Amino acid sequence: MIKNIPPMGWNTWNTFAENINESLILRSADELIASGLKAAGYEYVVIDDCWALRERDKDGRLVPDPEKFPHGMKYVADYLHERGLKFGMYSCAGLMTCAGYPSSFGREFTDAETFASWGVDFLKYDYCFKPIFAEGKTLYRRMALALANCGRDILLSACSWGADNTHEWIGSTGANMWRSTGDIVDSWESVKELIYRQYDILPYGGVGCFNDMDMLIVGMNGRGHVGLKGCTENEYKLHFAAWCLLGSPLMIGCDIRNMDASTKSILTNADLISIQQDPRGVRPFLIKFAGIEGLPVFVRYLFGGDIAVGFFNLLDEPANVWVTAEDLGVPVQAGVMLEGKEAYTGEGMRSQNGVLSAALPAHACKVYRMKVVK
Ligand code: GLA
Repeated sequence: MIKNIPPMGWNTWNTFAENINESLILRSADELIASGLKAAGYEYVVIDDCWALRERDKDGRLVPDPEKFPHGMKYVADYLHERGLKFGMYSCAGLMTCAGYPSSFGREFTDAETFASWGVDFLKYDYCFKPIFAEGKTLYRRMALALANCGRDILLSACSWGADNTHEWIGSTGANMWRSTGDIVDSWESVKELIYRQYDILPYGGVGCFNDMDMLIVGMNGRGHVGLKGCTENEYKLHFAAWCLLGSPLMIGCDIRNMDASTKSILTNADLISIQQDPRGVRPFLIKFAGIEGLPVFVRYLFGGDIAVGFFNLLDEPANVWVTAEDLGVPVQAGVMLEGKEAYTGEGMRSQNGVLSAALPAHACKVYRMKVVK
């Protein structure tokens, strides 16, 4: 059975787009292990769009491009499985994939069987070229049902970008996660925009069908397919912390064969990952500090009674932000302390007169795991 915690892994799209091949996948898998990313929890290796030939074979089956994948996909799957990793692939619910390759529209059952025969564990399922006569919910239900009948446990990662009010119907399809936003690009504006997009849909993530805020740009530093101007270290830290606190799947998008020390340290931050992987999977809630949109405090109740509290500064100037213990569900009369530490710096925090506060530079965050001390 698929674990009911948001998946973690690496995906080819953000950096490599159509420039993918077997050697890139195998070497990236090796690096996932050698760098400690696998030990930190990243287990899925996902080949995104552009892996197939433009035409199906005479039996109507999808065919991996033999120039890119000379030994076929089962070979890749075996390589990953032998190393304790899981294998993800990509298809699309519409008439073609977003990059114009064959999709699974009307061929859901055939393709689900093909993916199962290759040893696929995860299917990212896109939404480009949806025919106007078809409804998104029907298309995702079809693929979910096909996967449920394919004889293999395959996680369905729906990727309809939040379109057509995805949050209203995705839970009924059987998908395990759903993309709530349009495509991320490697810039501060994109990170900020994707976080703002979460404000109204926080109740639609969590256990059952995780809200996927899109793949990570940490470590891209302006390189690769969606690499634009890149972000500062504080911005990448804030991006990663927000994805963890909000319980998004974590799919690395940089070239992990060439990571710098800062990238590796952000991506393997154990305190943040333990929040993202929290077994209770409770949904987060939002407090807008002083009602200001750009100063969100995201809070999430964790397994064992701890509280994750993340102070975020999306504004262009420094800010002092606070919440009260009362805001976090602790009545003054309880007479308890909140005590914890910050995920990136290890800096301690205690509630002072029932208040938790943080001084934040522009585009920075502080995330604390607080304990209720009786
Ligand atoms: C869409 C998806 C991306 C990526 C591309 C591939 O844009 O949202 O994540 O899969 O298609 O073409």
